[in-house]
Amino acid sequence: MSGSIDFNITRMGYIEFLVTDLERARDFYVDVIGLYETERDAEHVYLRAIEDREHHCIVLRKAPQPGVSHFAFKVECEEDLDRLHAKFTTLKRPVRWLADNQRTAQGRTLLVQDPLNFAVAFYAEMASAPWLLQKYHLHRHGCPTRLDHVNVLTPDAHRGYEWYCNDLGFRPAEITEGEAPEHRIWASWLYRKATVHDIAVMNGPGPRVHHAGISLMDPMGVIRACDALAGAGYADNIERGPARHGISNALFVYIRDPDGNRFELYTGDYLTTDRNSEPLRWSLDNPRRQTYWGPPPPRRWFEEHMSVHDIMTGKPIPPTEPLLRAVPTYVD
Ligand SMILES: [Fe+2]
Repeated sequence: MSGSIDFNITRMGYIEFLVTDLERARDFYVDVIGLYETERDAEHVYLRAIEDREHHCIVLRKAPQPGVSHFAFKVECEEDLDRLHAKFTTLKRPVRWLADNQRTAQGRTLLVQDPLNFAVAFYAEMASAPWLLQKYHLHRHGCPTRLDHVNVLTPDAHRGYEWYCNDLGFRPAEITEGEAPEHRIWASWLYRKATVHDIAVMNGPGPRVHHAGISLMDPMGVIRACDALAGAGYADNIERGPARHGISNALFVYIRDPDGNRFELYTGDYLTTDRNSEPLRWSLDNPRRQTYWGPPPPRRWFEEHMSVHDIMTGKPIPPTEPLLRAVPTYVD
């Protein structure tokens, strides 16, 4: 792969979670997590966070099975969509434009099955929505600020790193690598906006989505979110944390929604504006990369992931086992 990059991906855009009970999911994400409903129809609920000035960063779509239908990156202009269309067509990857009734509030939207087999959308325009950052009287619980990133699993994360950096123009903030002399990349945290990542590409059975990362306004938001979950009867949906990652420096908690879809509430990472900064490199055998402090993850955090769908058939794609396997540290 690789070639010239004649388009500009600007940031993580949105993720579409599949949920079996739309009303239950809406109540969870709005009333307990503190996101805001912008719009809904019979099949979807469109949610945004307080920094968003556009219609949605998370879509809940009613479906027979949970999972992730696709995630999306925003690009700078309409012409970028045509350039990306040409690129994926040249690569002979499945590609289609979302129909009008499949893209509420979005302009033209390109949906592709990328070379890692993920369903990824690209769009340049989205309808605006009222900015809630200074509507302090409306802020609730953890106070989510934006969708920050998505974390995915692929059987060859070194190839995944090369695809995102060489073909899509992402830059690495942090890397986990294997032993010398090969230094094969086991996971990478890659960005377009100037934070630690818009996407993390991990080694594992894939294509699978591990989690979506949602930023919070401040560290206490993690505690307030846990309190709100417990108060609403969802204490068991707190899967891992609160704790701090070594990689990204994030204070975090991982949560499973009522369908089992996983997201991370996340705060405390740092700017990556300087283009001459070298990526931070972590050894695979350094446990502080995953957990700087806090208890080790439960087994299910390593073994349960969200399905990825075929953009033509809508069916889940069976995962392929990874080339490399680290020995995870977990508690049963
Ligand atoms: Fe994350």
